[in-house]
Amino acid sequence: KEYQFILTSRPDPAVGLVTLNRPKALNALSSPLFNELNEALADFDADDSIGAIVLTGSERAFAAGADIKEMKDKQFSDAYKNRFLENWSALTRLRKPVIAAVSGYALGGGCELALMADIILASPTATFGQPEITIGTIPGGGGSQRLAHAIGKSRTMELVLTGRTFSAQEAERWGVVSRVVGAGEGEVVKEAVELGRSIAGKSQIAVQAAKEAVNAAFEQNLAEGLRTERRLFHMTFATQDQKEGMAAFAEKRKPTFTHV
Ligand code: HXC
Repeated sequence: KEYQFILTSRPDPAVGLVTLNRPKALNALSSPLFNELNEALADFDADDSIGAIVLTGSERAFAAGADIKEMKDKQFSDAYKNRFLENWSALTRLRKPVIAAVSGYALGGGCELALMADIILASPTATFGQPEITIGTIPGGGGSQRLAHAIGKSRTMELVLTGRTFSAQEAERWGVVSRVVGAGEGEVVKEAVELGRSIAGKSQIAVQAAKEAVNAAFEQNLAEGLRTERRLFHMTFATQDQKEGMAAFAEKRKPTFTHV
């Protein structure tokens, strides 16, 4: 499909790649861009042959934030009545795992977009931050909440109240990203696709259940989360993939998952 602000491809038969492609504006997340992004993600999510989705930008910018020029004259009444940015969180409701491959600027809404992914891999050039405070506003795409969960109150307060950026190395040390990859051009996307391929080789039902269980840790209290995990674990015993996976282990062969 042809899009104006994004590119879609299949670097692996089981991995969908969405590349934000608005280079002149450092991938500023305009509404038209976000509509295309949501459409492409929904298409990949609905495709049975896809097991994981990678989301990336350019070497220079994952995304430099929501489009400030589009927002600057917006009125409260319009933002509130039309639920401005509410459709941003569609990404968090996808069933397939989403891996953000971040190079360069991931600022404001760009940082929040990365934080909505299930896994973040960073190139050493990645620069994260929530600079909204410097332009008279605050994070609106979940940054204050997801960062607080990821790195704690004091660090989140410092970042959100000053707008200072943080490096890939800090992001790794604080657990915002799972790892920083090598410095080569395109390396972070290559690693993310490889990671996606590894996930796509598993039972899609088990992967979906595992994602749901981990997310419960952020949405429910401990007792509820533990119950959710146990129920989903029990549920896997109703799948052929669990039978196949355990039979293959016992028979010392590789499993062939059919996602049923
Ligand atoms: C619109 C943007 C933009 C943005 C960059 N551009 N970021 N346009 N919205 N968020 C545009 C610039 O206007 C410029 O266009 C072109 O991209 C290149 O940017 P430069 O500033 O010339 O590049 P550079 O000097 O290298 O500086 C890079 C930068 C800077 C440090 C990333 O662009 C910057 O500070 N951008 C804004 C970062 C920010 O505040 N993000 C948070 C936005 S608020 P022209 O036409 O001049 O060439 C936000 C709210 C989220 O995200 C809440 C809801 C989810």
